[in-house]
Amino acid sequence: MRYTTLGRSSERVSVIAVGTWQIGSREWGWGRGYGEEEVIQAIRRSIELGVNLIDTAEIYGGGRSEEVVGRAIKGMRDSVLIATKVWPTHATYDGTIKACERSLKRLGVDVIDLYQVHWPNPFVPISSTMRAMDRLLREGKIRYVGVSNFPPRLLAKAQEHLRSAEIVSNQVKYNLLERGAAESNFRAFGERVTVLAYSPLAQGLLTGKYSAVNRPRDLVRSINRLFDGTNLRRVEPLLERMRELARKYGCEVSQIALRALVERDKVVAIAGVKTPQQAELNAHSADVPLTPGEVEELFGIARGIKLEGFVSIMRTPLRVISALTA
Ligand SMILES: NC(=O)c1ccc[n+]([C@@H]2O[C@H](COP(=O)([O-])OP(=O)(O)OC[C@H]3O[C@@H](n4cnc5c(N)ncnc54)[C@H](OP(=O)(O)O)[C@@H]3O)[C@@H](O)[C@H]2O)c1
Repeated sequence: MRYTTLGRSSERVSVIAVGTWQIGSREWGWGRGYGEEEVIQAIRRSIELGVNLIDTAEIYGGGRSEEVVGRAIKGMRDSVLIATKVWPTHATYDGTIKACERSLKRLGVDVIDLYQVHWPNPFVPISSTMRAMDRLLREGKIRYVGVSNFPPRLLAKAQEHLRSAEIVSNQVKYNLLERGAAESNFRAFGERVTVLAYSPLAQGLLTGKYSAVNRPRDLVRSINRLFDGTNLRRVEPLLERMRELARKYGCEVSQIALRALVERDKVVAIAGVKTPQQAELNAHSADVPLTPGEVEELFGIARGIKLEGFVSIMRTPLRVISALTA
């Protein structure tokens, strides 16, 4: 495992982290093929392999994700940083304080290591959320403040209002195919703000196991434009090169996807997992010896792929219905 740091702090964080939106989430197929036992083992195995950041959120599985994470880290609390998030509708001053207290309780911990604002809320002044963050830091309920899905200008504004600390991270969608948000962050803040990359496997597409004739059936991916037939075909040249590299290094395509992303310092790939096997592969991906030239080549191929826009308005409801009834 390789490590980087959170923002300009000296807090060491593994470049591969575990994502837990999958826990308790029917939209990911929770209870169909995987459940609590598998994800607890997955989290524990990740920690044994050197992963030290677990990302959750109050919204995941309606709180179930935080509860299960709390159970999974029993006896391992000192080896791990817990990151969770306040949902935007709770991001007022009082709402943030209360949401944090509920998260602490569900997680069964005394302190949250990284508390993040999940999405911007245009109806709640960021100054109120940051004032609450200052209070939570002062009271020792959280250790670091992060944001998620924040454009650089809003992050800078949030920083102006956060008096007692620096914002250490911005959690944004970042994978070989979807690079925009992370690249804006790199341009604006360089290495001052760590990018926590969500959907680093493009929700499983960059594992190479899905294709136009083998689509995942859950709700999340039924409405993800990447899994549209046209896009699945357009991504093939990238997957083909990833397969060649996977053969060269005796590893999996998913490991090439994660390894390429963490080539850059101050990037942490948060990979969502359902099973201990996936957790093991993901944790080991940091050690795949891709060369800088190969990483550059993969980004080059990915940049040349033009993706279709969102799935058509007519097809979306049909897909939602078929996924819910699958
Ligand atoms: N801040 C935000 O707004 C936000 C948004 C989205 C996600 N997140 C966070 O980021 C995490 C990761 O993002 P994500 O879950 O959207 O996408 P992801 O990590 O790109 O993809 C996760 C999915 O890929 C498959 N997978 C994972 N490891 C694999 C492996 N080694 N081999 C084969 N398949 C593998 C699994 O699904 P299958 O096995 O079913 O294919 C898994 O559910 C989330 O869990 C959450 O913590 C945050």
